[in-house]
Amino acid sequence: MPSEPEQPARTPSFHLDAIAAARTADATSGADPMALLVAALDLQAALPGIRRMRRWAHEALAVGAGERALDIGSGTGSEVLEFARRVGPGGEAAGVEPNPAMLTVARDRAAAAGVRCRFVEADAYRLPFDDDHFDAVRSERVYQHLDDPVAATAEIARVLRPGGRVVLVDSDWQTAILHPGDPAVVARMIAAMLEATPNARSGRFLRGRLVAAGFEIDDMGSEAVIWDPATARPMFDEVGGAALTREVITEQERDDLVAAIEAGVAVGDYHLSVTMFAVLGHLPPA
Ligand SMILES: C[S@@+](CC[C@H](N)C(=O)[O-])C[C@H]1O[C@@H](n2cnc3c(N)ncnc32)[C@H](O)[C@@H]1O
Repeated sequence: MPSEPEQPARTPSFHLDAIAAARTADATSGADPMALLVAALDLQAALPGIRRMRRWAHEALAVGAGERALDIGSGTGSEVLEFARRVGPGGEAAGVEPNPAMLTVARDRAAAAGVRCRFVEADAYRLPFDDDHFDAVRSERVYQHLDDPVAATAEIARVLRPGGRVVLVDSDWQTAILHPGDPAVVARMIAAMLEATPNARSGRFLRGRLVAAGFEIDDMGSEAVIWDPATARPMFDEVGGAALTREVITEQERDDLVAAIEAGVAVGDYHLSVTMFAVLGHLPPA
């Protein structure tokens, strides 16, 4: 990773509890933590692995003209815009998002693109829609931030009509690879990160969560998110900082790891990735 001349800005958490905390930090420091979250999502959206995963998920979900489709944890709204394109004027494309700053970005982008869709402030545990309302639901990289993914999956089943489809996409952070560097130090750093995130191994549980909520499974997909060193740097600093605080690695070990990765980057010998998994399912017809 390239050296940073000064401490890089840290991307705040996507967890529900972080929204209010970020507002307070914003008012106190004048910094805009939400702008960092939006920038992080935009950078990620440009990564080939994410683009391929999204393409796969939309093709698998096969939302058609006139249907009603919902994206839960819609972030900057890009995939709701894609739903809007697919459902056309006779359908409904909606996004649910608890972060008002994200909602503003999503609404502004939809308006700028002249796309008819709606974004609703709500969270995955209480979707403000009637039973059986939607034909299709997606949720991407949201479950890892949920304290109660079982409740969220039950809500998806509630708002989908009988026969309705769902696609869930999420990372499994146990699959994170950082090379080069001492594998034992990397393993301790990742283990600390797994402990600090509510649902960090989310990817492996998606299938079982859908089955437990009454869905039948139709397909599974996978892609690795492969970072370039500059994109990975803020996350690396975050995870490394947390591991230091928890005293699972020493400062020397962190510095050695940074030096090893920088040396690898200098000669093109590096690998920074995490694997995402996607599951497509449907409710049994009535
Ligand atoms: C990593 S971002 C992913 C955003 C978007 N799905 C994407 O793929 O770009 C996680 C999103 O989940 C949202 N989120 C966090 N907790 C949530 C909850 N309880 N219910 C719904 N969304 C939530 C965050 O506000 C954030 O927009």
